Amino acid sequence: MAASDNSSDSTHFGFKQVPKQEKVNLVRDVFNSVAGSYDLMNDLMSGGVHRLWKAAMIDWLMPRPGQHLLDVAGGTGDIAFRFLDRVKGEGLVTVLDINHAMLSVGQDRAIDQGRLEGLEWVNGDAQSLPLPDKSVDAYTIAFGIRNVTDIPLALREARRVLKTGGRFMCLEFSKVSAPVLKEFYDFYSFKLLPEIGGLVAKDKPSYEYLVESIRQFPDADTFAGMLMEAGFHQAKYRKLSGGIAALHSAWRL
Ligand SMILES: C[S@@+](CC[C@H](N)C(=O)[O-])C[C@H]1O[C@@H](n2cnc3c(N)ncnc32)[C@H](O)[C@@H]1O
Repeated sequence: MAASDNSSDSTHFGFKQVPKQEKVNLVRDVFNSVAGSYDLMNDLMSGGVHRLWKAAMIDWLMPRPGQHLLDVAGGTGDIAFRFLDRVKGEGLVTVLDINHAMLSVGQDRAIDQGRLEGLEWVNGDAQSLPLPDKSVDAYTIAFGIRNVTDIPLALREARRVLKTGGRFMCLEFSKVSAPVLKEFYDFYSFKLLPEIGGLVAKDKPSYEYLVESIRQFPDADTFAGMLMEAGFHQAKYRKLSGGIAALHSAWRL
């Protein structure tokens, strides 16, 4: 499967069907629950590999000093901090997230790291961005888009706020095709990962949702097609770690 069906009143929340208007609250509950252990769990679950994927995102984005980045579903600030490091502090990042608890962990991290400038934290929804048309140079979303109820709407919003010549980039879990890797990955994600979530974050159901939501997300070709449908140009992707994740890039021209 793939993106949610716009014509129906229900959508998927992991492997369950729920009313569309409920999904946003369910997703909020998941991240309220995991916010405090989110960064530790990311390192544990991926063996630190999420750091390499995020570095690959910033490498491909190639930000320049003076740019304004909108990092949607920015959570605890990982992409924002990497962006600011790359432009040596000479840029602005709006970190937007629907979840207060995730943003608050991000703000604490920023203070701990002495990052006092170049960051603004905004509580908002990817589906109705509180930013003017053509106002940002780049839009990033890392491991966020699969949680959004209406993905085509979020993509149109992304295009709306990007300046002409602006860059869209998405990092998300994708589809593993090599049979041996797929077998191992399925075992790891369906059997081990929720147990780790139960032990460390004391919340197995949230980690079951996270795994299921990965399987519901479209494959890389389908997602590239959705970008073109939203009006983007030159949609391309790179698979990471055998397709466990994928990076998509597209332009507003
Ligand atoms: C897996 S975390 C990713 C955080 C961060 N980007 C990273 O890569 O570490 C997903 C984030 O998406 C946010 N989110 C979910 N639905 C959203 C929406 N509709 N609009 C904005 N943020 C959303 C969640 O609150 C959560 O912080």
